[in-house]
Amino acid sequence: MSIAICPGSYDPVTLGHLDIITRTSRIFDHVIVAVMINPNKKTSFTVEERIDLLRRATEGIPGVEVVGFTGLLADYAHRRGATAIVKGLRAVTDFEYEFQMALTNKKLAPDVETLFMTTRSEYMYLSSSMVKQVAMFGGDISEDIPACILEDVKKRICCERNSEQPK
Ligand code: PNS
Repeated sequence: MSIAICPGSYDPVTLGHLDIITRTSRIFDHVIVAVMINPNKKTSFTVEERIDLLRRATEGIPGVEVVGFTGLLADYAHRRGATAIVKGLRAVTDFEYEFQMALTNKKLAPDVETLFMTTRSEYMYLSSSMVKQVAMFGGDISEDIPACILEDVKKRICCERNSEQPK
């Protein structure tokens, strides 16, 4: 059985992420969507919340499993017998960061390949941080986020903003 990991912060999952996960599931028998810790990012959603949003968003995609993992991606790939790490690439701006991570993972796990999948053109601009910023100021994110989690994401980001407002 071929196993791939789609790792990320998913804070929260966007339609761009979902597209990469769906396309990966057409190539591999099993896709592990791993919510991991990126120490360089301050997240808005807890790991449990991100897992819950991802599980709802990926329901119905065959062979997809959503997990949370704190530790090295290379170790987790070995533990699960994954042969590939699949990451979405939006633009050249993503490349340096992704290339650095891919080389680090290659050193830690030489038997695991990182594969880059180009994003669909309509999602090139899309990122979780952009979605959060738009939602925070009441903008429309309905074309950016899976419909089944839209209300929860909006509510949560609004709460975050209200709790940060000066009294
Ligand atoms: O969605 P992101 O934030 O670009 O994903 C980055 C992530 C979470 C996949 C990366 O930070 C990661 O792999 N974290 C786990 C720790 C690790 O293995 N670090 C070494 C490779 S950079």
